[in-house]
Amino acid sequence: MRTHYCGQVTGALVGKKVTVCGWVNRRRDHGGIIFVDLRDHEGVVQVVFDPEAPVIFEQAERIRNEYVLQVEGNVRVRPDGTANPDLPTGEVEILAGSLEVLNESETPPFQLDDEEVHEETRLRYRYIDLRRPDMQGRLRIRADITRVLRSFLDTHGFLDIETPFLTRATPEGARDYLVPSRTQAGSFFALPQSPQLFKQLLMASGFDRYYQVVRCFRDEDLRADRQPEFTQLDIETSFMDEAQIMSLMEDMICDLFERVMDVSLEKPFPRISYAEALLRYGSDKPDLRNPLELVDVTELMKQVSFKVFSGPAKDEAGRVAMLRVPGGAALTRKEIDDYTEFVAQFGARGLAYIKCVEVDDFQSGLQSPILKYFPEDVIRMMVQLSGAANGDLLFFGADNRRIVNAALGALRVRLGHDLNLVEQGWRPLWVVEFPMFERDPDSRRWNALHHPFTSPACETPEELAESPGTVLSKAYDMVLNGTEVGGGSVRVHKKEMQAAIFEVLQIDAKQAQEKFGFLLQALDFGTPPHGGIAFGLDRLVMLMTASQSIRDVIAFPKTQNATCLLTDAPSPADTRQLKELHIRLRPGSD
Ligand code: AMO
Ligand code: AMP
Repeated sequence: MRTHYCGQVTGALVGKKVTVCGWVNRRRDHGGIIFVDLRDHEGVVQVVFDPEAPVIFEQAERIRNEYVLQVEGNVRVRPDGTANPDLPTGEVEILAGSLEVLNESETPPFQLDDEEVHEETRLRYRYIDLRRPDMQGRLRIRADITRVLRSFLDTHGFLDIETPFLTRATPEGARDYLVPSRTQAGSFFALPQSPQLFKQLLMASGFDRYYQVVRCFRDEDLRADRQPEFTQLDIETSFMDEAQIMSLMEDMICDLFERVMDVSLEKPFPRISYAEALLRYGSDKPDLRNPLELVDVTELMKQVSFKVFSGPAKDEAGRVAMLRVPGGAALTRKEIDDYTEFVAQFGARGLAYIKCVEVDDFQSGLQSPILKYFPEDVIRMMVQLSGAANGDLLFFGADNRRIVNAALGALRVRLGHDLNLVEQGWRPLWVVEFPMFERDPDSRRWNALHHPFTSPACETPEELAESPGTVLSKAYDMVLNGTEVGGGSVRVHKKEMQAAIFEVLQIDAKQAQEKFGFLLQALDFGTPPHGGIAFGLDRLVMLMTASQSIRDVIAFPKTQNATCLLTDAPSPADTRQLKELHIRLRPGSD
């Protein structure tokens, strides 16, 4: 139907006859001449309808935005002064010789070049939204990214193997999506939260290196970088330790950035421990482009008379930390109040501050309602430790560690943006040495920080049982510009160790057998040492395309409350179908 894509009609074709197909991006009437910008997958070209050819001119008068056309015509240079240097096709136009309207279109619900369209409208008419060049561009980059990742793994001996979607629950910490079974009354499949158990079984089967670009399903609270179904690049290898796996994955990500973005990342990526990340950034996914760091003053505050600080400082679970704000002495009362309100969302009960107008003058150079509580040597230490210069401000957080880290960690991110401190570029890192378990503050039970198949860094099950609170794991997260893009670990391959982990998690033998008996049994039959990682593909694409929302890099995403506006899913099922599935709805749930 065509000889060229619209976007390929350039100066090289001047004088040639071409046929193009596409959508009417815009129609303009200019004193008797009609211009149509015709758009396809490759770009836009200008088509001119001249009244000298009255039949097609009349047809052209009837076309509207988003009509689908086939146009044949001669390529010519645009008249002087009308070229558009911003378009690859901007020097030329097609003088239409014939026109076929392949399909008409109603007036679209929004203009494709309107930047302000409500997201709900965009999602409802996603097929139109996806016509926008920036959406086309993002999905193209997504395809490039997947292709390059696959090609790296293919050439490094990884085998692409599919795993089931209709399966049992995999514990990754979210709620499961359940699918009722028709053939087994009262039984349900769970859609996988990840292929974790299957990829481990593939290692037991001797596949050595596996990968899969795979959909995962998690019924969890959604955010700008979370979807209920999302895509992982899921990877597992045998006979490699964590350093080797991390190094290979670094090579893969460097290759990806090189080939898709023409960016060379420095290797090796920095590695920092979980403990250090929390200490310095209040977060286990720090954005290293942001130069601000927390400074711990817990020790210093143990003796001060200000109970708000000395209380948490003396508490084993407490922490006092400060955050230096360059130039922050100029913050207004209102701005400080806003930041105080901001940290309150994370549980902070206040946000003490010291304005450092003149750091060497402890009498009048420092301004703060709390100065009176501190002896001069403590003030001197605070100024020194923080590195405060004239004109800076120090914010303080004092509470249990969890709250201080969450509040000051988020404040650090916000200040970085507000004060324009975040550098350009890419700052990947590995976060390592995670604790094996963390205590749930409500139930006081231990939870696995990664999943329960992660290998502890200790040698024996006895060591693990003795001090579950201090044992570290062989887990690693890859963090890029403040986003966790991937996470993995070396796994447990000995059944005694796996049993010890379940014990700490208070999963008794019967429960363990019920839930993951198949995996435990595989450990009895010669499972090799193995480990792996999964990358959040959507998140990687989001970062690499500088998108604000994960929904912008998924063709047909779900809304914040996990619905699809395009298809109106989920939707009620009819009674017959429910009956077949042995399900009766409770009154009021329809
Ligand atoms: P984890 O749960 O850390 O690990 O997931 C791996 C990566 O997947 C991405 N991710 C998500 N992306 C979008 N929406 C979500 N709801 C979502 N949840 C997670 C993140 C994350 O880093 N089986 C292990 C991996 C392993 O140990 O090999 C796992 O699934 O970028
Ligand atoms: P107060 O003595 O309660 O008025 O508090 C004095 C200052 O300490 C105020 O600026 C409060 O915002 C701040 N503040 C109170 N509680 C905390 C806390 N847990 N962490 C940090 N600052 C706090």
